Amino acid sequence: MSNFIQSSIGKKFIMSITGLFLILFLLVHLAVNSMIVFDSSGELFNNAAHFMTTNPIIKIVEPILAAGLIIHLWWASMITLQNQIKRDNNNIGFKRYKIRKNNSTSKWVSRNMYILGTLIIVFLVIHLANFFWKMKFTGDPLLAHDSNGVENAYALVTSAFISWKWIVALYVVGAIALGLHLYHGVWSAFQTLGWSNKKWRRIFNGFGIFVSIILGGGFAFIPLFVMIKSMI
Ligand code: HEM
Repeated sequence: MSNFIQSSIGKKFIMSITGLFLILFLLVHLAVNSMIVFDSSGELFNNAAHFMTTNPIIKIVEPILAAGLIIHLWWASMITLQNQIKRDNNNIGFKRYKIRKNNSTSKWVSRNMYILGTLIIVFLVIHLANFFWKMKFTGDPLLAHDSNGVENAYALVTSAFISWKWIVALYVVGAIALGLHLYHGVWSAFQTLGWSNKKWRRIFNGFGIFVSIILGGGFAFIPLFVMIKSMI
């Protein structure tokens, strides 16, 4: 078992499983966040966010999510480092020339998964500090609870998108990076799991495009929607 995990296919397998699990989280997260768009009173979003913080099942899933995220990041670093060492060993003379010549824009995403991942981490750190940390630990005057003990997460989120244009820009860049990362990631995960004969390859490719547009587009749309609505 430990041999399998240490092997390159084992690492890819773990990346795939944790990656697909994180996609599930993101789909639920987007569904909750989309209530910001559908209800401008904020009631729907506040109740959904409150449910997500107080529900016992979600409380069990949260540490699993954190573990999945950490394993995904750790293994990504390991694989990238190993690939870098292999590439350095191969990049001599004619081979180096050939590799550079073969670079094409279409392969950019697959070669830069780690760069996109790093961009997503930078986004995530700022994101968690802005919302998660305040809601869980430090509090914020904007979060004032109503008579049912529901905190005003809507006020916290929308005021950030209305007051700070750089935050909106960061979210849009983060969402685009996420979309590109997922476009290659979903396809690659299913291939690693061995579900990629000709017919399934087309289906999973389509699923990858669908997931990246929904998640990338959705997460970019929400801050833009809030900011533009406040200006008109
Ligand atoms: C429009 C965009 C987004 C909004 C409005 C949003 C909002 C929020 C809020 C309010 C929280 C705190 C929830 C709580 O503690 O109860 C949160 C947590 C979190 N967000 Fe986001 N988010 C967005 C995009 C993203 C993206 C793109 C990612 C991942 C790349 C992400 C990952 C997370 C994670 C890992 C947590 C902590 C776990 C949790 O509390 O569920 N979010 N988000």
